[in-house]
Amino acid sequence: DLDCFNLSERSGFVLEQPEIDLPEYYRVWMDLASNITPLIQSHQLRVLVDQMPVLSPYNLKGHRELRLAHLALGFLTMGYVWQEGQHLPAKTLPKSLALPYSLVSQRLGLPPILTYADSVLANWRLKDPTGAMEIGCQGFFLVSLLVEKAASAGIKGAVSVMKAVATCDIISIQKGLYKVSQSLKKMRKIFELMHRHVDPTSFHGILRIFFSGWRDNPMLPDGLLYEGVGVKPIMLSGGSAAQSPSIQCFDALLGICHEDHAASFLRRMREYMLPSHRQLIETLSSGSPLRDFVLSCSRPSLCINYDSCVSALVNLRSYHLSVVARYITIPGHRARAMGCPFNGVCSALDDTGTGGSNTLPFLKSIRDSTRRALIAQP
Ligand code: HEM
Ligand code: ALA
Repeated sequence: DLDCFNLSERSGFVLEQPEIDLPEYYRVWMDLASNITPLIQSHQLRVLVDQMPVLSPYNLKGHRELRLAHLALGFLTMGYVWQEGQHLPAKTLPKSLALPYSLVSQRLGLPPILTYADSVLANWRLKDPTGAMEIGCQGFFLVSLLVEKAASAGIKGAVSVMKAVATCDIISIQKGLYKVSQSLKKMRKIFELMHRHVDPTSFHGILRIFFSGWRDNPMLPDGLLYEGVGVKPIMLSGGSAAQSPSIQCFDALLGICHEDHAASFLRRMREYMLPSHRQLIETLSSGSPLRDFVLSCSRPSLCINYDSCVSALVNLRSYHLSVVARYITIPGHRARAMGCPFNGVCSALDDTGTGGSNTLPFLKSIRDSTRRALIAQP
């Protein structure tokens, strides 16, 4: 049953064995995507994309090839739009990129923009001989991937809890909740690797801009025109771990309610997930009255199991807030104090997440609403 949610037994939402190359016909996409960093730095990417032929997406076979194509075209798109910095975005994506990208996106049920499902879940290989898909600091994707892998045991636990609630099997509920809390603690621990592998100044000054989207973005107030696809520009949010299905699955299982504004942002982020992953969140939130069950069954040990999941999630979110201070707030202040050394870094992006949220108030509200779910209030 994990299969029908596109979930792997071993790695959860992380794609197992991502494809590392596309059929020869797509050579130009892979060549440009593999050299994205130097092509951006030498300002050549736009010209080369403009010259690409309009390739048909129908020589792509199977889910894994489509995922690699979506990843490669996503990097080309972000590079194309932001090549000249935050203040000079491209307002039109040429047909050579826009048309195949939207067709590949339709087949996957993803929007035509770089998502977490691309840059994290499908962007890895055991050894990396080619150095493909690199923008500045790959460590960011890799650490996110490891955090996501640490979530996989918890996701399996969540599914087993949901089933056990349906049959009132208290022992299995407790076992499953234990797996969830252990997994959340592990995610928090692995998250610490960020400090060792990702430098705040280059994350903030270089990498982040390339995740920015064209919705709620003053630099592209009308969105981006996908030439050959539609006649009006469309608006899409940038890439963000807010598009990770894992944390939303835990929220759904535990029955955590967020404030209106935050909840609607998180719900919108589901449109940036694979449909099968979105489906699991929806199944967990509709199928599992876990919290009501725990409250009504008045068994102290069960309440303790439930609360330890909620506390672990609060701790993860508190830690995440400290990461945001280190990687966004502090480098933002420093850049401003130095008179904005990187072209265009001192801007609205300092208070806005790449997904478009008003960063700190949003994340604090979510952390606090998680804490309010504790049964034994501290
Ligand atoms: C949301 C920043 C790493 C999980 C967000 C948001 C920001 C942010 C600004 C607000 C949404 C937006 O507008 O984009 C960062 C930074 C990171 C980082 C600076 C590292 C340098 C991670 C990692 C994970 C993660 C590794 C775990 C896989 C989440 C989640 C949300 C979120 C789940 C949605 C809010 C929630 O459910 O609590 N992040 N993030 N983040 N991030 Fe991160
Ligand atoms: N969502 C993260 C940010 O806003 C990547 O920087």
